[in-house]
Amino acid sequence: MELRDVLARRRMTRSFDATPVDQDWLDECCAEALRAPTAGHSAGVRLYSVGATHVSEYLRVATDATWRETSPRAAGLARAGGVVLVTSRPGDYLARYAEADKVRAGLDERESWPVPYWHADAAMATMALLLLVEDAGWQSTIWGSFRHATDILRWAGIAADEELFASVLIGRADGRDTPSRSLQRHVPSRRERVRRVP
Ligand SMILES: Cc1cc2nc3c(=O)[nH]c(=O)nc-3n(C[C@H](O)[C@H](O)[C@H](O)COP(=O)(O)O)c2cc1C
Repeated sequence: MELRDVLARRRMTRSFDATPVDQDWLDECCAEALRAPTAGHSAGVRLYSVGATHVSEYLRVATDATWRETSPRAAGLARAGGVVLVTSRPGDYLARYAEADKVRAGLDERESWPVPYWHADAAMATMALLLLVEDAGWQSTIWGSFRHATDILRWAGIAADEELFASVLIGRADGRDTPSRSLQRHVPSRRERVRRVP
Protein backbone atom coordinates (compact mmCIF):
# COMPACT_ATOMS: atom_id res chain seq x y z
CA MET A 1 0.00 0.00 0.00
CA GLU A 2 1.16 3.54 -0.68
CA LEU A 3 2.30 5.45 2.39
CA ARG A 4 -0.37 8.09 1.83
CA ASP A 5 -3.09 5.44 1.69
CA VAL A 6 -1.87 3.77 4.89
CA LEU A 7 -1.78 7.14 6.63
CA ALA A 8 -5.28 8.00 5.46
CA ARG A 9 -6.78 4.60 6.31
CA ARG A 10 -5.39 4.28 9.83
CA ARG A 11 -8.10 4.91 12.43
CA MET A 12 -8.21 3.85 16.04
CA THR A 13 -10.13 0.57 16.15
CA ARG A 14 -11.66 -0.47 19.46
CA SER A 15 -13.52 -3.63 18.55
CA PHE A 16 -11.72 -6.70 17.22
CA ASP A 17 -12.83 -10.12 15.97
CA ALA A 18 -10.55 -12.26 18.22
CA THR A 19 -8.15 -13.31 15.43
CA PRO A 20 -4.81 -13.96 17.17
CA VAL A 21 -1.81 -12.00 15.94
CA ASP A 22 1.19 -14.16 15.11
CA GLN A 23 3.69 -13.11 17.77
CA ASP A 24 6.74 -13.83 15.59
CA TRP A 25 5.32 -11.48 12.96
CA LEU A 26 4.49 -8.92 15.65
CA ASP A 27 8.06 -9.02 16.97
CA GLU A 28 9.38 -8.39 13.43
CA CYS A 29 6.89 -5.57 12.99
CA CYS A 30 8.10 -4.01 16.25
CA ALA A 31 11.71 -4.27 15.09
CA GLU A 32 10.74 -2.49 11.85
CA ALA A 33 8.93 0.22 13.83
CA LEU A 34 12.17 0.87 15.70
CA ARG A 35 13.60 2.28 12.48
CA ALA A 36 11.93 5.45 13.77
CA PRO A 37 14.46 8.14 14.65
CA THR A 38 15.73 8.62 18.20
CA ALA A 39 17.35 11.78 19.53
CA GLY A 40 21.13 11.57 19.41
CA HIS A 41 20.69 7.94 18.37
CA SER A 42 19.95 7.25 22.03
CA ALA A 43 17.88 4.19 21.02
CA GLY A 44 16.01 4.45 24.30
CA VAL A 45 12.66 2.99 23.20
CA ARG A 46 11.61 -0.62 23.87
CA LEU A 47 8.63 -2.51 22.44
CA TYR A 48 7.25 -5.55 24.29
CA SER A 49 4.89 -7.87 22.48
CA VAL A 50 2.05 -9.59 24.31
CA GLY A 51 0.72 -12.66 22.52
CA ALA A 52 -2.96 -13.43 22.04
CA THR A 53 -3.04 -15.91 24.93
CA HIS A 54 -1.96 -13.17 27.35
CA VAL A 55 -4.28 -10.38 26.21
CA SER A 56 -6.93 -11.07 28.86
CA GLU A 57 -4.26 -11.17 31.59
CA TYR A 58 -2.92 -7.85 30.29
CA LEU A 59 -6.42 -6.34 30.40
CA ARG A 60 -6.96 -7.49 33.98
CA VAL A 61 -3.86 -5.53 34.95
CA ALA A 62 -4.40 -2.55 32.64
CA THR A 63 -8.04 -1.87 33.55
CA ASP A 64 -10.22 -1.95 36.63
CA ALA A 65 -13.18 -4.21 37.29
CA THR A 66 -15.75 -1.41 37.03
CA TRP A 67 -14.51 -0.46 33.57
CA ARG A 68 -14.52 -4.08 32.42
CA GLU A 69 -18.10 -4.52 33.63
CA THR A 70 -19.54 -1.23 32.37
CA SER A 71 -17.60 0.03 29.37
CA PRO A 72 -19.34 -0.61 26.05
CA ARG A 73 -15.85 -1.05 24.61
CA ALA A 74 -14.60 -3.69 27.02
CA ALA A 75 -15.76 -6.74 25.04
CA GLY A 76 -14.50 -5.52 21.66
CA LEU A 77 -11.11 -4.56 23.04
CA ALA A 78 -10.83 -7.88 24.87
CA ARG A 79 -10.96 -9.54 21.42
CA ALA A 80 -7.61 -7.92 20.48
CA GLY A 81 -5.21 -10.47 19.02
CA GLY A 82 -2.10 -8.99 20.60
CA VAL A 83 -0.71 -5.97 22.43
CA VAL A 84 2.52 -4.02 22.26
CA LEU A 85 3.79 -2.11 25.30
CA VAL A 86 5.84 0.94 24.33
CA THR A 87 8.37 2.06 26.91
CA SER A 88 11.24 4.48 27.01
CA ARG A 89 14.37 4.71 29.11
CA PRO A 90 15.02 8.32 30.16
CA GLY A 91 18.40 7.29 31.57
CA ASP A 92 19.61 6.44 28.06
CA TYR A 93 18.94 10.03 27.01
CA LEU A 94 20.63 11.56 30.03
CA ALA A 95 23.67 9.34 29.43
CA ARG A 96 23.77 10.11 25.70
CA TYR A 97 23.49 13.87 26.26
CA ALA A 98 26.28 13.72 28.82
CA GLU A 99 28.63 12.44 26.10
CA ALA A 100 31.31 14.78 24.81
CA ASP A 101 29.58 15.74 21.55
CA LYS A 102 26.28 16.57 23.30
CA VAL A 103 27.17 17.83 26.74
CA ARG A 104 27.04 21.46 25.65
CA ALA A 105 23.29 21.13 25.11
CA GLY A 106 22.96 21.09 28.92
CA LEU A 107 20.58 18.12 28.90
CA ASP A 108 22.40 15.72 31.18
CA GLU A 109 19.83 16.30 33.98
CA ARG A 110 16.24 15.16 33.56
CA GLU A 111 14.78 18.49 34.74
CA SER A 112 16.71 20.37 32.03
CA TRP A 113 14.73 18.91 29.12
CA PRO A 114 12.12 21.40 27.83
CA VAL A 115 10.83 18.62 25.57
CA PRO A 116 11.58 15.15 26.95
CA TYR A 117 12.83 13.38 23.84
CA TRP A 118 12.25 9.94 25.36
CA HIS A 119 8.51 10.63 24.99
CA ALA A 120 9.03 12.05 21.50
CA ASP A 121 10.93 8.95 20.42
CA ALA A 122 8.35 6.62 21.95
CA ALA A 123 5.67 8.47 19.98
CA MET A 124 7.65 8.18 16.75
CA ALA A 125 8.07 4.43 17.16
CA THR A 126 4.40 4.08 18.09
CA MET A 127 3.27 5.88 14.94
CA ALA A 128 5.57 3.73 12.82
CA LEU A 129 4.04 0.64 14.45
CA LEU A 130 0.47 1.85 13.81
CA LEU A 131 1.30 2.36 10.13
CA LEU A 132 3.06 -0.99 9.74
CA VAL A 133 0.11 -2.75 11.37
CA GLU A 134 -2.33 -0.98 9.05
CA ASP A 135 -0.15 -1.75 6.03
CA ALA A 136 -0.27 -5.45 6.92
CA GLY A 137 -4.07 -5.42 6.96
CA TRP A 138 -4.53 -5.28 10.73
CA GLN A 139 -5.96 -2.51 12.88
CA SER A 140 -4.97 -1.05 16.23
CA THR A 141 -5.68 1.41 18.97
CA ILE A 142 -3.35 3.27 21.29
CA TRP A 143 -4.07 3.47 25.01
CA GLY A 144 -2.54 5.94 27.39
CA SER A 145 -2.58 3.43 30.29
CA PHE A 146 -1.35 6.04 32.81
CA ARG A 147 -3.42 4.94 35.77
CA HIS A 148 -2.16 1.38 35.62
CA ALA A 149 1.36 1.99 34.31
CA THR A 150 3.19 0.72 37.39
CA ASP A 151 1.11 -2.47 37.52
CA ILE A 152 1.55 -3.10 33.78
CA LEU A 153 5.32 -2.69 34.00
CA ARG A 154 5.53 -4.98 36.99
CA TRP A 155 3.28 -7.59 35.33
CA ALA A 156 5.44 -7.53 32.20
CA GLY A 157 8.66 -7.83 34.19
CA ILE A 158 9.96 -4.54 32.83
CA ALA A 159 12.82 -2.88 34.70
CA ALA A 160 12.11 0.09 36.95
CA ASP A 161 14.18 2.45 34.79
CA GLU A 162 11.66 2.20 31.94
CA GLU A 163 8.51 4.28 31.63
CA LEU A 164 5.34 3.16 29.92
CA PHE A 165 4.45 5.48 27.07
CA ALA A 166 1.39 3.62 25.81
CA SER A 167 -0.09 0.26 24.93
CA VAL A 168 -1.08 -0.60 21.37
CA LEU A 169 -3.89 -3.13 21.03
CA ILE A 170 -3.84 -4.93 17.70
CA GLY A 171 -6.34 -7.10 15.89
CA ARG A 172 -8.76 -7.34 13.02
CA ALA A 173 -11.64 -4.87 13.10
CA ASP A 174 -15.02 -6.56 13.47
CA GLY A 175 -17.03 -3.50 12.37
CA ARG A 176 -18.77 -3.19 15.75
CA ASP A 177 -16.70 -0.25 16.94
CA THR A 178 -18.40 2.58 18.84
CA PRO A 179 -16.79 5.74 17.48
CA SER A 180 -14.89 7.75 20.08
CA ARG A 181 -16.66 10.81 21.50
CA SER A 182 -13.38 12.62 20.85
CA LEU A 183 -14.23 12.52 17.16
CA GLN A 184 -17.34 14.68 17.75
CA ARG A 185 -15.18 17.55 18.91
CA HIS A 186 -15.05 20.47 16.55
CA VAL A 187 -11.40 20.92 15.71
CA PRO A 188 -9.72 23.04 13.03
CA SER A 189 -9.31 21.13 9.78
CA ARG A 190 -5.92 19.63 9.02
CA ARG A 191 -5.36 22.32 6.40
CA GLU A 192 -6.21 25.04 8.94
CA ARG A 193 -3.59 23.61 11.25
CA VAL A 194 -0.93 24.21 8.64
CA ARG A 195 0.36 27.75 8.97
CA ARG A 196 2.94 29.81 7.20
CA VAL A 197 5.44 31.82 9.13
CA PRO A 198 4.89 35.39 7.85
C1 LIG B 1 -0.83 9.76 22.77
C2 LIG B 1 -2.22 9.21 22.52
C3 LIG B 1 -2.93 8.62 23.56
C4 LIG B 1 -4.20 8.10 23.32
N1 LIG B 1 -4.85 7.46 24.34
C5 LIG B 1 -6.03 6.87 24.10
C6 LIG B 1 -6.67 6.12 25.12
O1 LIG B 1 -6.17 6.00 26.25
N2 LIG B 1 -7.85 5.53 24.83
C7 LIG B 1 -8.42 5.63 23.60
O2 LIG B 1 -9.50 5.07 23.38
N3 LIG B 1 -7.83 6.34 22.59
C8 LIG B 1 -6.66 6.96 22.82
N4 LIG B 1 -6.04 7.66 21.80
C9 LIG B 1 -6.69 7.75 20.49
C10 LIG B 1 -7.27 9.11 20.15
O3 LIG B 1 -8.46 9.31 20.87
C11 LIG B 1 -7.54 9.14 18.62
O4 LIG B 1 -6.31 9.02 17.96
C12 LIG B 1 -8.23 10.42 18.19
O5 LIG B 1 -9.53 10.51 18.73
C13 LIG B 1 -8.33 10.54 16.67
O6 LIG B 1 -8.92 9.38 16.13
P1 LIG B 1 -8.19 8.55 14.96
O7 LIG B 1 -6.84 8.13 15.48
O8 LIG B 1 -9.10 7.40 14.71
O9 LIG B 1 -8.06 9.46 13.79
C14 LIG B 1 -4.79 8.20 22.03
C15 LIG B 1 -4.05 8.81 20.99
C16 LIG B 1 -2.79 9.30 21.23
C17 LIG B 1 -2.03 9.93 20.08
